[in-house]
Amino acid sequence: DPSFWKDNNVQVVIRVRPLSSSEISVQGEKRCVRQDSGQSITWTCHPESRFTFDLVADEHITQESLFKVAGVPMVENCMAGYNSCMFAYGQTGSGKTHTMLGDIENGTRRNNENCGMTPRVFEHLFLRIQKASSDDMFILMSNFVL
Ligand SMILES: Nc1ncnc2c1ncn2[C@@H]1O[C@H](COP(=O)(O)OP(=O)(O)O)[C@@H](O)[C@H]1O
Ligand SMILES: [Mg+2]
Repeated sequence: DPSFWKDNNVQVVIRVRPLSSSEISVQGEKRCVRQDSGQSITWTCHPESRFTFDLVADEHITQESLFKVAGVPMVENCMAGYNSCMFAYGQTGSGKTHTMLGDIENGTRRNNENCGMTPRVFEHLFLRIQKASSDDMFILMSNFVL
């Protein structure tokens, strides 16, 4: 529900990625987290601990759905005149590049359902700018990956 975005200036979404095939072969289907609700997740190792976020996106969420939930509202905020920033934080291998860039190798974003947040945000932003009225508008955008 994209309206969750409207309540606060800062929103924290946690995205859980699927186990990789090497993780499955080494430790089986053993997950370290369990989702309890749309907002909370439990670390199931010892000691068990529960964490609450604005949104928990489970391992089945598509790039498209995550974009609708987090990317579109951000572009709309920009169009309404607010500076906006999205960043991905997490340990190596947790899925930051997959989420922010995704698979952009094969063709344009239109025929690639695995492309990530950045190409989708830019496409949406440029479409919105095209449709906007002719009032002067200055937009500065940047993107970097560490
Ligand atoms: N939501 C996801 N669904 C499927 N594969 C994923 C997902 N998130 C990450 N991966 C895969 O897990 C591996 C590590 O992800 P990556 O984005 O490179 O991590 P990071 O940039 O945080 O180091 C990559 O092979 C990536 O394709
Ligand atoms: Mg990376």
